[in-house]
Amino acid sequence: MMNMKTNTFEQYESSVRSYCRHFPKVFTDAKGAVMTDENGEKYIDFFCGAGAVNYGHNNDYIKGKVIDYLATDGIIHALDMYTVPKREFIETLEKKIIEPRGYKYRIQFTGPTGTNAIEAAIKLARKTTKRRNIFSFMGCFHGMTLGALSLTSEMYARNGAGATFTDCTHIPAPYMFEGLDVIKYMQTLIDDDHSGVEKPAAVVMETVQAEGGIRVFDDEFLRDVREFCTKNDILMIVDDVQVGCCRSGTFFSFERAGITPDIVVMSKSIGGIGMPLAIVLHTDELDDWKPGEHNGTFRGNQLSFVAGKAAIDYLLENDVEAETRRKGELVKKYVTEEILPLDSRLELRGIGLIWGIDFAAIDSSLTEEVIEKCFEKKLICECAGREGSVVKIMPPLVIDDDLLLEGLSRVKKSIEEVLNK
Ligand SMILES: Cc1ncc(COP(=O)(O)O)c(C=O)c1O
Repeated sequence: MMNMKTNTFEQYESSVRSYCRHFPKVFTDAKGAVMTDENGEKYIDFFCGAGAVNYGHNNDYIKGKVIDYLATDGIIHALDMYTVPKREFIETLEKKIIEPRGYKYRIQFTGPTGTNAIEAAIKLARKTTKRRNIFSFMGCFHGMTLGALSLTSEMYARNGAGATFTDCTHIPAPYMFEGLDVIKYMQTLIDDDHSGVEKPAAVVMETVQAEGGIRVFDDEFLRDVREFCTKNDILMIVDDVQVGCCRSGTFFSFERAGITPDIVVMSKSIGGIGMPLAIVLHTDELDDWKPGEHNGTFRGNQLSFVAGKAAIDYLLENDVEAETRRKGELVKKYVTEEILPLDSRLELRGIGLIWGIDFAAIDSSLTEEVIEKCFEKKLICECAGREGSVVKIMPPLVIDDDLLLEGLSRVKKSIEEVLNK
C-alpha cells in the first residue's frame, strides 16, 4: 500500500484547516456517495461536502453537461456579463422552480460563497429599510465574513475575528426556553422604548439550524415569523445555503410552511456538483441596488451555471425531492429502532435527509469519538451543535438505499463501541 503523505499539508498549509483533521486521509476520487483515498480505500460519505454535493459526487448527468460545455471552448470567466449559460441558468431556475411554486423573485449573483450571499442579503435589507439592526437566532450559522459572522452565534467562530460586532440582536431560538413566546419577545423588543434594541431591517433565519445541531423549526413558527415580519414591516430572510436544494425534502426548505420570504439566500448545491455559486433571491420591490453596488470578480463562473442548470433538470427528472423524503423516513426508522434503544438519553432530530443524533444528555464530548470510530469504519460524518453534541447524518440525496443502510449500521456500531467502552 502506498504510504499516504499528509506531511505536505501539516508542513505548509495554514493551521486554520479543519475537516481534514477529522478525516486525515488524502482523497483522490469520488462517485455518488462514495469517496476514495490514495490507497484505494472507499468511504461512505455522510457529510456531502457540508451540503455542496446533494446530487452526488461526479453526478454523471451534471458532469456530462460541464464536460460538453468545456469541449466547446465556451467562455468560462465573464465577470457578470451576459452569457448563454447564465441565461439558461436564470431561465431554468425561474421557469422550472420559482414560478411553478408560485414565487416571484429576481436573482442576484454574488461572490460564490454562502457567506458572501448573506453579506449581500443583509446589505440589501439595510439599504431598503434604512435600518441597521438585524435579528438572528441563537444557534444559527450564517457564515464567517464579518457581516455574516455578526449574525452567526457560535462564540468560537466569533472570537476568531478580533472584531466587535454591532447591529445584530440574537433572539433565543424557539427550542431554548420552554414557555418562552419568541414572537412576543421580538415584538416586545421593538415596541418597548426601554428595550435597548433597535427595530431591525430583517430577521435572518435558517428553517433548520444545521450547524446549530439539526434544530428543525416547525411550520407554525415559520409562519409566525413571517406574520411578525409582515406586521412590523421587517424583511424575512431565509438562509437556505445548507438545507435548500431539496435537502429538507422540497427545493426550498420553507415550502412546507407555505410562506414566502422576502429574501432567500442559496449556495452550496445550487452549483450542481460542488461548483462555486451563490445567489440571493429577492422580490421586485427590493431591487434597489445601483449597478455594481455589491460587486465581485467571481459572480459569473460559467461552469457553475452549466452545472446549476443541469442540477435543476436532474432533480426534476429524478424526483429528488420525493426520494429525499422517502430516504429520510428510512433514516428515521433505522435510528429510532436500532440506535436510540442503545441509550434512552439519545435524541433524534431531523427532516428530509438531514438528521442529528444528540448526545447532550449523556456527554457531548462522546461525539468526537463516534465520528472517529465511524471514520475507522470508512464512514465520513461530522458533528454539529453546541459543544458538538450532535452526530450529523447528511448523505448525498441520491445515495442508494443499501448504501444508506450500510452507512447507518456503521454509525450504530460506532455508537455502540463508544457507549460500551
Ligand atoms: C446555513 C449556512 N449559511 C451560510 C453558510 C456559509 O457558507 P460558506 O461556507 O459557503 O460561506 C453556511 C455554511 O456552512 C451555512 O450552513
